[in-house]
Amino acid sequence: MKVLILHGPNLNLLGTREPEVYGHRTLDDVNRDVAALAEELGLQVEFYQSNSEGDLIDRIHLAGREKMAGILINPGGLTHTSVSLRDALAATSLPAVEVHLSNVHAREEFRRHSYIAPVVLGQISGFGAESYLLGLRGLLVRIKENY
Ligand code: DQA
Repeated sequence: MKVLILHGPNLNLLGTREPEVYGHRTLDDVNRDVAALAEELGLQVEFYQSNSEGDLIDRIHLAGREKMAGILINPGGLTHTSVSLRDALAATSLPAVEVHLSNVHAREEFRRHSYIAPVVLGQISGFGAESYLLGLRGLLVRIKENY
């Protein structure tokens, strides 16, 4: 069973990007934690980060064709702007969970709205890298319910 871990724009800069908001851990550090949990849970994972909306959409389409088990996505700023990313997730109808390092509801007003939240199983926000781990656990619970 394979899950796609998607990171949106600017997440490649983790570690140096606004560390007071996103912490000092790099994307590789986050991915290492996710990979360790996935191994513990008996899941395969594939990581993909892009700063391009179109590339993320193409990767979601591919995940659908590959019949991956699910998608864990931190859409970054596209959370608040992208109807197209939302439509791609809705079109594949793979189970997906939205995660954020920061608590998007405790920040600027524009971050409170997510185009993605209505088409995913749930949203986890505000726990740093742990958001990904909580999200992966939640996703697996739902995937197993449907097997
Ligand atoms: C983020 C929150 C978004 O509002 C922001 O644009 C990001 C990162 C997070 O993980 O906290 O790029 O998705």
